[in-house]
Amino acid sequence: MESIQAIKQRFGIIGNDPGLNRAIEKAIQVAPTDISVLVTGESGVGKESIPKIIHQLSHRKHGKYIAVNCGAIPEGTIDSELFGHEKGAFTGATQTRNGYFEVADGGTIFLDEVGELPLTTQVRLLRVLENGEFIKVGSSKVQKTNVRIVAATNVNMFEAIKKDKFREDLYYRLSTVEIHLPPLRERKEDIHLLFRKFASDFALKYKMPTVKLTDDAVNMLLKYRWNGNIRQLRNVAEQISVLEQNRTISPDTLRSYLPDAGSNLPAVVNQTKSESDFSNEREILYKVLFDMKSDLNDLKKLTMELMKSGNTSEVAKDNESLIQKIYGENENETTVEDLEVLSIPEKHEPQPIEQEPQEDKYHFAEDVEEEETLSLQDKELELIKKSLERHNGKRKLAAQELGISERTLYRKIKQYDL
Ligand SMILES: Nc1ncnc2c1ncn2[C@@H]1O[C@H](COP(=O)(O)OP(=O)(O)OP(=O)(O)O)[C@@H](O)[C@H]1O
Ligand SMILES: [Mg+2]
Repeated sequence: MESIQAIKQRFGIIGNDPGLNRAIEKAIQVAPTDISVLVTGESGVGKESIPKIIHQLSHRKHGKYIAVNCGAIPEGTIDSELFGHEKGAFTGATQTRNGYFEVADGGTIFLDEVGELPLTTQVRLLRVLENGEFIKVGSSKVQKTNVRIVAATNVNMFEAIKKDKFREDLYYRLSTVEIHLPPLRERKEDIHLLFRKFASDFALKYKMPTVKLTDDAVNMLLKYRWNGNIRQLRNVAEQISVLEQNRTISPDTLRSYLPDAGSNLPAVVNQTKSESDFSNEREILYKVLFDMKSDLNDLKKLTMELMKSGNTSEVAKDNESLIQKIYGENENETTVEDLEVLSIPEKHEPQPIEQEPQEDKYHFAEDVEEEETLSLQDKELELIKKSLERHNGKRKLAAQELGISERTLYRKIKQYDL
């Protein structure tokens, strides 16, 4: 018998959680039998690999394996899909069609989201489970099939039974053995392991360095609820891998990818806005606050340097990148010229010192000359709007396209009240 480790490797399953191991062990044990198995667990916990393991380790492995998503097939056609139909059974049935139960004879059928099956289909399914018999839609001929059924559900079947949405007798027939996959939040040891695996996979896929979480970000990852479980973790790892330029991920950055991750900052309530408007606004607000805090720290550092040395131009030269970060990348960073050159990289090269006198190079915000005319402003506004629309409101991508920093874009969004 193949070991659990070998099975994990073969089916690309990551993790060492005892609950996960138990589930895989159970799948290995029941595989050689024809016992019906019900796989349970929240959405995204990895239920789909269990029926594959069962099929591959069974004597049916050379037979067909058909996965049916019961929730995705319209009620009107599901009987025909599963059991087939006779020619002329209904309008449009121009030919006799074999259903999955006929095609998979000798193999395995995986009924995903079995809780979504209509009651009439449940009756037909019960009959197959009891004696292998079924009848095509529009036919009266009883046919036989030999199919192993593995079903899965992410809904509470007892609730469904109580509400008369699912037949109790069918439930017991399907769940001779139940294999439960624990939610990700209960697999604490595996969370970071999974993130690292996904991050390294996506780094390879997108040809970028692997993102790495700081210790505090790892803590946040472990404390998060993960309602979407491993599917959600994988999505988060992919988004971060694609979008974050700084490959070391802080809790603040991570938080922006985790809905309802919580924050110490007070929430600002605006009842007339929809939830998504609201969370967008909140996100902007947080970002601005975090940026301001970081600027303040940089400013303190700079002031200290100045006080210590007393030589302004010397300090300015030594801290060029810091000054650029605080006072903007160049003095006209938000003019239309910049916006029109869409391919400008986000970080500008420092200008050669001799190009202009040192004192003029860096100045405080109040000193910036207001050169923009009204029509230029209109154009800028239009460009920003268009870019935001094109990227579905994703400011990072819009800023990249516009060739301005994300922070400048936040300022503009606020300035124009977008
Ligand atoms: N232990 C794991 N290791 C690696 N990838 C995993 C693991 N568990 C799940 N995944 C991945 O997570 C995603 C979701 O898993 P899956 O489709 O099996 O979820 P599910 O339980 O069927 O959810 P639903 O009920 O929503 O259909 C898939 O891409 C799957 O490959
Ligand atoms: Mg699934």
